Amino acid sequence: MPRLLSGLQPSGQLHLGNYSGAIKQFLTLQDQGYESYVFVASYHALTSVRDPQALRANIRQVVIDYLAFGLDPAKTNIYLQHDVPAVTELAWLLGCVCPKSQMDKAVSYKDKVAKGIPASIGLYTYPVLQAADILAVEPDVVPVGEDQRQNVEIARDLAQRFNHAYGSEDNPVFKVPQVMIQPGTAVLPGLDGQKMSKSYGNTLDPFLPEKKLRKTIMKIVSDSTPVEAAKNPDTDTTFALFSALAGADDPRTLELAEKYRATDIGFGYGHAKQALFELMLEHFGPARARREELMKDPGYVEGVLRDGAEAANQAMTDVTARARAAVGL
Ligand code: ADP
Ligand code: TRP
Repeated sequence: MPRLLSGLQPSGQLHLGNYSGAIKQFLTLQDQGYESYVFVASYHALTSVRDPQALRANIRQVVIDYLAFGLDPAKTNIYLQHDVPAVTELAWLLGCVCPKSQMDKAVSYKDKVAKGIPASIGLYTYPVLQAADILAVEPDVVPVGEDQRQNVEIARDLAQRFNHAYGSEDNPVFKVPQVMIQPGTAVLPGLDGQKMSKSYGNTLDPFLPEKKLRKTIMKIVSDSTPVEAAKNPDTDTTFALFSALAGADDPRTLELAEKYRATDIGFGYGHAKQALFELMLEHFGPARARREELMKDPGYVEGVLRDGAEAANQAMTDVTARARAAVGL
């Protein structure tokens, strides 16, 4: 059975971009029988979250939201990064084969510093820790959104460097995984049309209370084409979100596109937003209900994390021993 590894940072409330770029893939693959490892990147969040109480709450919320969206602990091992010590050990070993110039070239460090995140050593070496997350579990695939492509490429590169330095052709220390990016939903736009991101304040949270959800959807920026004129669905954010959620080939998406192009039915952006609101409620109805239940059951969530950590630690045992022995420890 192929193995999957991925994770999200607990740096704020998850949003539709995280869902359609990353979590939706986890769900599909878990149901296709992938042996799945999905974790909460708590150490990575320390690069941007300095409030311990907020961090603790975010970590718990990401786990609850994973479960609410449909990650099934019977199929997916859910764990916290700080419950698997092998990862930080491997990060050091990998850091010692990582040329400094490789981190200098990484775009996400520069982007994050430009957005105001402190330029710490942790932020600078973030991709090395991410490589350790990945290589520790020996996955076949790493499903992520487009913006994570470079980080997964770095993990592949560090695995190859390490194997070259310490392994042999037929006895590599690390397995080199594939990146997996869902075409079509690779970069979901936010309310303002830029990439949806926690750090831009332009996100759509599928778990907002109904009234607030509708209000937020109504804030999506559109152009000023009047109701009676034809509109271009391909350049409109509301349409992009609808299409990502329902599927580009779904009859409801095709019908909505026709309405955009029509000139005789008095269809405006407000109607499109209402359609998106209804789709969100329908699509996330079961997840919203499950989340309410999970919020009331901390014992269950603790149990899931205990089992997840045990399975992940187990999965990391062999590769950690190989890597230690390979370097001479
Ligand atoms: P954010 O930009 O909101 O901080 P993260 O960097 O924590 O999001 O991303 C977590 C996961 O969700 C990654 O796999 C990332 O590629 C994916 N993701 C985030 N934003 C989007 C988006 N707008 N469209 C598609 N995928 C996204
Ligand atoms: N950097 C990822 C993000 O911001 C989170 C992450 C950390 C991750 N380690 C990972 C994703 C390993 C995939 C695999 O979303």
